[in-house]
Amino acid sequence: MTAVLPVSRATESAVGERVARPRRYLMCPPEHFAVSYAINPWMDVTLGVDRTLAMRQWETLRATYLALGHEVELITPQPGLPDMVFAANGGLVVEGRALGARFTHAERRPEGPAYLAWLTGAGLKDVAEPVHVNEGEGDFLVVGDLVLAGTGFRTDPGAHHEVQELFGIPVLSLQLVDPRFYHLDTALAVLDDTDVAYYPEAFSPGSLAVLQRLFPEAVLANEQDATVLGLNAVSDGLNVVLPSAATDLADQLRARGYNPVGVDLSELLKAGGSVKCATMEIRA
Ligand code: ARG
Repeated sequence: MTAVLPVSRATESAVGERVARPRRYLMCPPEHFAVSYAINPWMDVTLGVDRTLAMRQWETLRATYLALGHEVELITPQPGLPDMVFAANGGLVVEGRALGARFTHAERRPEGPAYLAWLTGAGLKDVAEPVHVNEGEGDFLVVGDLVLAGTGFRTDPGAHHEVQELFGIPVLSLQLVDPRFYHLDTALAVLDDTDVAYYPEAFSPGSLAVLQRLFPEAVLANEQDATVLGLNAVSDGLNVVLPSAATDLADQLRARGYNPVGVDLSELLKAGGSVKCATMEIRA
């Protein structure tokens, strides 16, 4: 895996035709991380987690973003909310405006107001309370002027309409069919404003046909890389931070001019999450 190349803060850096744009991220330390309930097939309450290791791995992810020149803000973790480390699920921020999250499962529901409170204090233009069930950037992925929206396991299709009306950005609904890939961000990675990578088998035939039509050149992940949550990646347009075990995906990215940066988040994987799950992007 390529080492992180430190770049100076708030400047664009380019390699070949790829350009890295500095980002603002929100993360939540895994201080209270645990697998104490099972709401997706990855979670096994009998396995146990190493919270110290989880924290160390998470710190490495944060340090990776900082070394790449990005800004990382933190939300205070709350006791009793073991999945709060998955900041992506806390909302959707586009063009300085936010929509809060409303979680599917009772266990995570209090995270909605916690993230909403943070967003309200973040100096954004507008913060809207959600009407329909939506799990933030877990199921809403921004690709240029388009929002790809997942449904099937968590986010209600009503929320897709809600996002389109709120932000005035076209929202495209995609049907997820494999319970291992219960959030869109476990099945599809946004690489830049026009480029994505995805695992075809995670989508219904119709939604797969839509992806093929929209992104005929997309990177296709194999099952092995998909099942280490290799697609749960965060790209700045050049550097793609992804689980280090997704080696074929990293090779494909490198061949396209991206700089794959592998990180090991094996503890968070026990809850069914990885890089992208742990990261909310605050888009100005
Ligand atoms: N245990 C969490 C859940 O099932 C993991 C969330 C992962 N987040 C994500 N953006 N995919 O809700």
